[in-house]
Amino acid sequence: MPRKLYIAGNWKMNTSLAECAALTEGLVERLGDVADVDLAIAPPFVYLQAVGRQVQGSRIALGAQNMFYEDNGAYTGETSAAMLKDVGCCFVILGHSERRHVIGETDELINRKVLKALADGLTVILAVGELLEQRQAGQTMDVVRRQVQVGLEGVGVAEMAGVTLAYEPVWAIGTGETASPAQAQDVHAMIRTLVGDLYDAETAAATRIQYGGSVKPSNAAELLALDDVDGALVGGASLKAEDFAGIVQAGRDVP
Ligand code: 13P
Repeated sequence: MPRKLYIAGNWKMNTSLAECAALTEGLVERLGDVADVDLAIAPPFVYLQAVGRQVQGSRIALGAQNMFYEDNGAYTGETSAAMLKDVGCCFVILGHSERRHVIGETDELINRKVLKALADGLTVILAVGELLEQRQAGQTMDVVRRQVQVGLEGVGVAEMAGVTLAYEPVWAIGTGETASPAQAQDVHAMIRTLVGDLYDAETAAATRIQYGGSVKPSNAAELLALDDVDGALVGGASLKAEDFAGIVQAGRDVP
């Protein structure tokens, strides 16, 4: 089953209001009517509404970098799925390594968020990936397997239509170092097999798995051409409209 490419920009804690407006304008100009690749951006929370207005009418989807699993109440500093939808978000990134390793989120917490996001009608990009020391200790597959398994606990087969997985080796994030095509393909293939074991062959064939970690225009083609790589989750290079567009073009050019 052919899977449509899905390329998302994770802006992390970057841009000012003015920079974010200029970046969005550049993206809409270059990519606003791209139909053969699914495109998405996740700006900082405080700019979501402004960016939402700018991407309206384009094919670029708006999403958030995190959310909380309750509807409302005394959860200082948190944001609900309903609030995200209210400002035009249709997806949320959950389980990003910076939330796991800088903020301290656990697989169990991430799973609660995944379930809530899907229940409330947001699609999810569930990010997984091993630390450098885990790779060096030969634990990559075990670590990623557990993150996928626990992250998806309780997610039904029908709900999997709203889930994209993103493999982001932590040692390749923001370091300029990229997983080799073979390293990426190995982990992606394992994840797809796992989705087949947890669900069924059809779900495994339909689920998109993005690669993330220093993706840029110059290396996007070889990564996006891999059998089990169905897109990219882009950090640094998503902050320049030209670079993000270059990555998208590389994906569109894959035979
Ligand atoms: P970089 O592309 O900056 O390495 O970041 C990847 C990432 O973490 C995207 O979520």
